[in-house]
Amino acid sequence: AIEQTFVMVKPDGVQRGLMGEIISRFERKGLKLVAARLMQVSRELAEAHYAEHRERPFFSELVQFITSSPVLAMVWEGENAVAVARSLMGKTNPAEAAPGTIRGDFGLTIGMNVVHGSDSPESAAREIQLWFDGETLRYDKSVE
Ligand code: CMP
Repeated sequence: AIEQTFVMVKPDGVQRGLMGEIISRFERKGLKLVAARLMQVSRELAEAHYAEHRERPFFSELVQFITSSPVLAMVWEGENAVAVARSLMGKTNPAEAAPGTIRGDFGLTIGMNVVHGSDSPESAAREIQLWFDGETLRYDKSVE
């Protein structure tokens, strides 16, 4: 099914100049960019985004990091977009992510793992609503 998924280039990816490389990989795969915003994340948004990790020992570190400098928040659309985006990103821990994936090629530690992507269609719907409040583009059928 055609899905949308939420993908974010984290502060480390933005600061290291990896936005173009990451966008390029998603485009070359065939996904379509339907929303993008370079933004400073508020503490409130960070805590809402990572609500499921609230009880984890690394939660405050997570919020601190994601609010430390701008991120590139995006919505990508296409057949099976949630799983496809996850395969392009590789495993959460860059030390275990296969070479050829974004984290496998550009990451080293689990805290600074370059990108975030929704882990299920349900998470994608929640995260897209949270970050974009329904403001995503629709491509005209004629360009597909
Ligand atoms: P992300 O996909 O953004 O979702 C939750 C994040 O928590 C994950 O990527 C990691 O960057 C981060 N994370 C997971 N485990 C740890 C850990 N042990 N220490 C610090 N950060 C972690």
